[in-house]
Amino acid sequence: MNKEIEKICIVGLGYIGLPTAALLANNGYKVHGVDVKENVVNTINKGEIHIVEPDLDKYVKTAVNNGNLKASLQAQEAEVFIIAVPTPFHAGFKPNIDYVLDAAKKIAPFVKEGNIVILESTSPVGTTEKVAEVLSNNGVNINNVYVAYCPERVLPGKIMKELVENDRIVGGINTQSTNTVVSFYKTFVKGEVLATNARTAEMCKLTENSYRDVNIAFANELSMICDRAGINVWELIELANHHPRVKILQPGAGVGGHCIAVDPWFIVSDFPTDAKLIKAGREVNDFKTEWVVEKIKNTALQFELSNKRKPVIACMGLAFKPDIDDLRESPALEIARNLHNSQLNIICVEPNVHQLKDLTLVTTKDAIEQADIICFLVKHSSFKGLKNNINKIELDFCDVN
Ligand SMILES: NC(=O)c1ccc[n+]([C@@H]2O[C@H](COP(=O)([O-])OP(=O)(O)OC[C@H]3O[C@@H](n4cnc5c(N)ncnc54)[C@H](O)[C@@H]3O)[C@@H](O)[C@H]2O)c1
Repeated sequence: MNKEIEKICIVGLGYIGLPTAALLANNGYKVHGVDVKENVVNTINKGEIHIVEPDLDKYVKTAVNNGNLKASLQAQEAEVFIIAVPTPFHAGFKPNIDYVLDAAKKIAPFVKEGNIVILESTSPVGTTEKVAEVLSNNGVNINNVYVAYCPERVLPGKIMKELVENDRIVGGINTQSTNTVVSFYKTFVKGEVLATNARTAEMCKLTENSYRDVNIAFANELSMICDRAGINVWELIELANHHPRVKILQPGAGVGGHCIAVDPWFIVSDFPTDAKLIKAGREVNDFKTEWVVEKIKNTALQFELSNKRKPVIACMGLAFKPDIDDLRESPALEIARNLHNSQLNIICVEPNVHQLKDLTLVTTKDAIEQADIICFLVKHSSFKGLKNNINKIELDFCDVN
């Protein structure tokens, strides 16, 4: 704990803001959380949580019970302000930083000389400077305030551990801001806290996710080439990775989630003439999902021609990656919905989700019994060992065994 800092105000109490608030409150800071959703505020003030994240409930309960964590709809005076609101994109993949700018306006009346303002939301290059501009336009003397960007790299499911153990990048709008914010993170982060400037820190977060996206796109492109060439892509990658300097990632049904499938567009949108490879990576990964749909539809048509009836198709897995319940931007879910909307007869298995409005969920056992075509879309551990042991047509898009 930094003795000069007593109060922290965190704007946005979702997957990033709430764990950060709870961790800081458990480190002795007085934390005031702000959210626009009344139910979020009320839930937290009861010592409860509105999101699923291991151990977060214990941190929140302790902090609320000992008075170190309170939530409300309004910002308050503090020595440190942290913005952790969503940064989605508008139509046409244009980054939407409206929530960030709104949060900056919200805190402006409370920001005083010597205070720290940190942006943690994944943001396009230049957003931290815009936050400083909003503060300045709303009466804050920005020369006396420390403003910096510090991106989040946590993995859902391990947030409480990774918030402490991961290395962090801090980039201020000037050197004093960088140094002051680095010192603050060092009070609760055990990983390295690396100093840079705001624009590099913003680009660093976008680069990390674009790197993953482009490398998955390489694997996905290979998978489509191999399919045409009659080569098993997983065997091929396994063999190629024996080269000491080759490490190809695994192909799948596309790329999903709210980070890797979204953040590269922040670079493409701002640097359209230069970001050719990053854009191509996004397009290849999105195309892989369409390709899977076509593959399933063609198999269904062949079945119908041979059997004079429409097949039942089982979509095995709907989450955006193995062994989680998160359906955001999930290619598997998009595939299932596309097949369903094309009047195909589908049933779905998603062991981590209990109910969906538009799709029928069944157990693995029922799916195997009822389906004519089994499509493995997500490599959930519970599907291991099924392939080649069921006497049905199998389409494997994720190397399920
Ligand atoms: N979730 C992750 O794993 C993860 C990882 C790295 C980075 N990020 C980034 O962190 C940021 C936050 O993501 P998240 O997953 O916590 O989002 P989230 O949707 O879970 O939470 C955001 C919260 O902010 C609130 N909010 C929106 N506008 C507000 C405003 N003007 N004032 C106050 N509250 C407001 C929302 O009601 C919501 O509760 C995003 O930029 C995201 O890309 C997320």
